[in-house]
Order: sequence, then structure tokens, then C-alpha cells
Amino acid sequence: MGEDIGPAQYKAALRRFATGVTVISCVVEGQDHAMTASAFTAVSLEPPLVLVCVARNARFSAAIGASTQWGVSILGASAQSCADWLATSGRPLAGQLERVPHHRGSTGVALLDDSLATLECVTTSRTAAGDHDVVVGRVVAAAVTDLDDPLLHWMSAYHGIARD
Ligand SMILES: Cc1cc2nc3c(=O)[nH]c(=O)nc-3n(C[C@H](O)[C@H](O)[C@H](O)COP(=O)(O)O)c2cc1C
Repeated sequence: MGEDIGPAQYKAALRRFATGVTVISCVVEGQDHAMTASAFTAVSLEPPLVLVCVARNARFSAAIGASTQWGVSILGASAQSCADWLATSGRPLAGQLERVPHHRGSTGVALLDDSLATLECVTTSRTAAGDHDVVVGRVVAAAVTDLDDPLLHWMSAYHGIARD
């Protein structure tokens, strides 16, 4: 059996995994909460489930615990500055979406306009996994847009799709 690896080895390997970028959002007592997240994946088709891994030391952790409904915005390349902003530690929560073009989904969550697709979810389980929680949600609404340039994250930097 191998020894545990250190954080540097873990990061060196995982930063080579290319992902899309999402913003996860919810509303708690009238206050919008939102956080950039790439640890998002599809889980199940029947029923339709997705998951997001939320750091327990992120302020969003308490927010998604307090709200069973959350939104997922699958970001387009034009949303890079929004992704940066919503990943900034300690940003003011009040008014944090004022600079982020968004609209409301049917559940009331904020969904970013610069998205290729949006989902609205209801939490079905939350499982502690190391320093993160794996939050699984049932998808209750989904929409797609005409944008077709995804925002990608690879080697700790944002990228677009290179087309022929
Ligand atoms: C590209 C990118 C992807 C990220 N993915 C995640 C993620 O999947 N889960 C997570 O908990 N934090 C993720 N983060 C970090 C959070 O966005 C960041 O820690 C959080 O917004 C800090 O806000 P806070 O001060 O309110 O806790 C990611 C950041 C970036 C830039």
C-alpha cells in the first residue's frame, strides 16, 4: 500500500485535470450567496442528480446548508471576471452580485447571464469528505442559452476552447 501523498503532489496532479467552471448560488434570508466552483459533476440521469464539492471553510458552506435550493451557472468564456470575483476570499457578501449580470430562476436563485446552461437543484444529501462536503442535488430546472464558448480551467488558469 502506498504512503499518503503531500498537498503539493496532489495539486500538481489535479491541476492537470481540465474542467469547466460554474458558479453555485443560493438565497438565505433574502441575501444572495454565490461561489465559483469547478468541483461540479453530473451524478445520475434517473433521477437527475448533480454534485458540487464545497470547502467547509468557505462562507458558502453555511449558506448551502441553510438553503435547500441552489443554482448552477455553467459559465461561458465571457464570465471570467465574474468567476474571479466570486472566488475572491472575503469579498463583501452584500451586493456581491451587483457587478455580475444575472437573472432569477424559477426557485428564486440568481443565475449568471454569461452561462452556457443553468440548473436549479434541491439538496438530496450532504456528505463530509475530508475538508469538503459533497452536496448532491436533484435538478428541478434546466435551461440552455445560445452561448457556445465555455470557460475552462486548467493548470490553475482560465482558458477557452481552441477551435480549428
Ligand atoms: C476556478 C476555481 C474553481 C474553484 N472551485 C471550487 C470548488 O469546487 N469548491 C470550493 O469549495 N471552492 C472552489 N473554489 C474556491 C472558492 O471560489 C473560494 O474559496 C470562495 O469563493 C471564497 O469565498 P469566501 O471568502 O466567501 O469563503 C474555486 C476557485 C476557483 C478560482
